[in-house]
Amino acid sequence: MENHRTAQISGTGSYLPANLLTNKDLESLVETSDQWIRERTGIVERHIAAPQEATSDLAFQAARQALDAAQLSAQDLDGILVATVTPDQVMPNTACFLQSRLGCKSIMALDVSAACSGFLYALTIADQFICSGKFKHILVIGAETLSRIINPTDRQTCILFGDGAGAVVLSANTNNPSSKSAILSSSLGANGSLGDLLSLPGGGSRLPFNQDVLDQKLYFVHMKGREIFKSAVRTMSDRALECLNQAQYPLDKVDWFIMHQANLRIIEAVADHLNIPKQKILTNIDQTGNTSSASIPILFNQSIDKNLVQRGQTILMAAFGAGLTSGGILLQY
Ligand code: UT7
Repeated sequence: MENHRTAQISGTGSYLPANLLTNKDLESLVETSDQWIRERTGIVERHIAAPQEATSDLAFQAARQALDAAQLSAQDLDGILVATVTPDQVMPNTACFLQSRLGCKSIMALDVSAACSGFLYALTIADQFICSGKFKHILVIGAETLSRIINPTDRQTCILFGDGAGAVVLSANTNNPSSKSAILSSSLGANGSLGDLLSLPGGGSRLPFNQDVLDQKLYFVHMKGREIFKSAVRTMSDRALECLNQAQYPLDKVDWFIMHQANLRIIEAVADHLNIPKQKILTNIDQTGNTSSASIPILFNQSIDKNLVQRGQTILMAAFGAGLTSGGILLQY
């Protein structure tokens, strides 16, 4: 019977650092304009972590909120998955920092690296652990301090990215087996042959830190934006359709669409391609910029707090990111 279990979102939380970087601020840092950024991306401002704030600090705030909303204590958790490409350190992983700070038991603590699709990868993994009957409650987080890996003089990237964290607690439906809340379907993919379009080449085993890495600024994100744009529209549409197809769920019955907040024009292009009514698309990119793996869980939490997303409703999530990875999840909240 155990493998008929389903998993539901029992609580959500999010955290955005206080410090704001506006388009106007960027005008004095690189050759750009508020108008260009708004028109080409939909972004107005983004939050930037304070110098003493690391990724696990952002994740901690979001995690505490999610646990409170789920009415659970850290001791109830069976696992922590942190999706991030900006870990506090290469090792220990960010999930271990969080496990200690939250005061959890000795539980699974793992980072998931799939760039902006990371949260949907992590949520899919957590769902498998719960549906298999192994675990009851898993904390799933997307958390990033992208400002630490963005070249502040590269106008293509410095205008796009922001910092933040979003969290959910995924719980087995054992106490409430009649609950319809569940992850209904999930679709994950990758196309490694396009990895060069978005990468951080320096500091790994192929190119360990040395003077060359420092001189050529290979410790920063390098991006070919226009090429990513096209692939993003195609893969997010594919992942979304695959989720609907797997669950045999009609698109017009979906209540809300939450897409990775990378560029408003990408979101609108997916909406046009799939014929999604604009009023069903949730966005916050104007206030957050692209927070990579944190973008979907932050927007999900904010939409619940605003009473837009309500219990029983169906949400289709889709993301793309470096890799190029992509992911989709259809869930009933
Ligand atoms: O999570 C995944 C992360 N990556 C992405 O999501 C990236 C996806 N791509 C994009 O969002 C867009 O491609 C960008 C926002 C990065 C760029 O927008 P675009 O409409 O594709 O612009 P473009 O690269 O085609 O550049 C158009 C013009 C160029 O000038 P010329 O050659 O036409 O004279 C650029 O040099 O805009 C110029 N430009 C800028 N101008 C003012 C590029 N960046 C800027 C800027 N401010 N920040």
